Amino acid sequence: MKFIAYNVRDDEIPFIEKWGKDNQTEVSYTTTTLTQETIEEARGFDGISGLQTIDYSRSLFEDFKKLGIRYLSLRNVGTDNVDLQAAADNGVTVTNVPAYSPESIAEFAVTMALYLSRKVGYMQQQLRQKQQFHFSPDFMGRLMSEQTVGIVGTGRIGRHAIQLFEGLGAKVIAYDKYPVKNKFHYTNNLQELVAQSDIISIHMPATKDNYHEFNHETFEAMKDTALLINTARGSIVDTNDLIYALQSGEIAGAGIDTIENESADLQDSRSTKQVNNADVIKLSMMPNVLITPHSAFHTTRSVMNMVNISMNNLKDLYAGETVADIVK
Ligand code: NAD
Ligand code: COI
Repeated sequence: MKFIAYNVRDDEIPFIEKWGKDNQTEVSYTTTTLTQETIEEARGFDGISGLQTIDYSRSLFEDFKKLGIRYLSLRNVGTDNVDLQAAADNGVTVTNVPAYSPESIAEFAVTMALYLSRKVGYMQQQLRQKQQFHFSPDFMGRLMSEQTVGIVGTGRIGRHAIQLFEGLGAKVIAYDKYPVKNKFHYTNNLQELVAQSDIISIHMPATKDNYHEFNHETFEAMKDTALLINTARGSIVDTNDLIYALQSGEIAGAGIDTIENESADLQDSRSTKQVNNADVIKLSMMPNVLITPHSAFHTTRSVMNMVNISMNNLKDLYAGETVADIVK
């Protein structure tokens, strides 16, 4: 039995090596993204551990079949980029790690909300761009306890976000397509949540149904003082409409950890390439925006669990044992 992990960062290596040693299993790793060009590196291995937001496509799964590789174990939660039908058609079982540390992402959403509410971006801009260091009326923020926070998606991450925002004194309302009975303060629909919230934090998976659900119409319906936080998936928010909403004052700010069309480069931790995504550059210049490279997950607890749980999933699949994290 031997496995290979793709898109490995330096901070994952000690956990991967320790897992290999503890489990007396050969594990190889590479910093490259898994593509049709790089899958040749997996020849002779029994399973692949992956971590990327670019597509696992049908043609990639056809290559799995050609190489006789039957297991793809994701080290992450989201599976929106996986062609599951193609995986099944090519005899590949896919697993993910549904709960490596939901609190890590929730905490990051709160971090973004506090940064934006307390106008930290304006303070940074004054100092970094104008080399000035003094009070400004632009710095007047809002207390979390004076705001209504709308959580979209009350699953593992959304629930932690609710706890954290409530702990800071916010009034929290929620919307979920499949609400949990007798829990949370659900609105009847997304429109109600959008109209009532001072801060909206998205915590649902990307699906066909919610592609660009946050678009021009949604921004128009938001308060012009409202903030949008997206640590879920980029495709849920129409980036062009978001930029227009921020520039025209339809909304007051945004925290963007996930943006549409993320490239392979984003998850290559050794990349030296300069950012060339025009939207990312535009958003990064705005004092009312905090944009980060899909890093809400990135804590020590997450990294340890992502590696250990995904490697255990590979080992158990190979041994023919029951694996709870199979993605269907
Ligand atoms: P989860 O499955 O536990 O919860 C998702 C919730 O969203 C569920 O309650 C579900 O009913 C709800 N939902 C599904 N479709 C919906 C819709 N169209 N409208 C409203 N609600 C809907 O998932 P989770 O662990 O909370 O993760 C949520 C998402 O966060 C993941 O799918 C992933 O895309 C993203 N994520 C991002 C990072 C990061 O680093 N930025 C890390 C982990 C996960
Ligand atoms: C996830 O776990 O779904 C994430 O978004 C994290 C990322 C490293 C792919």
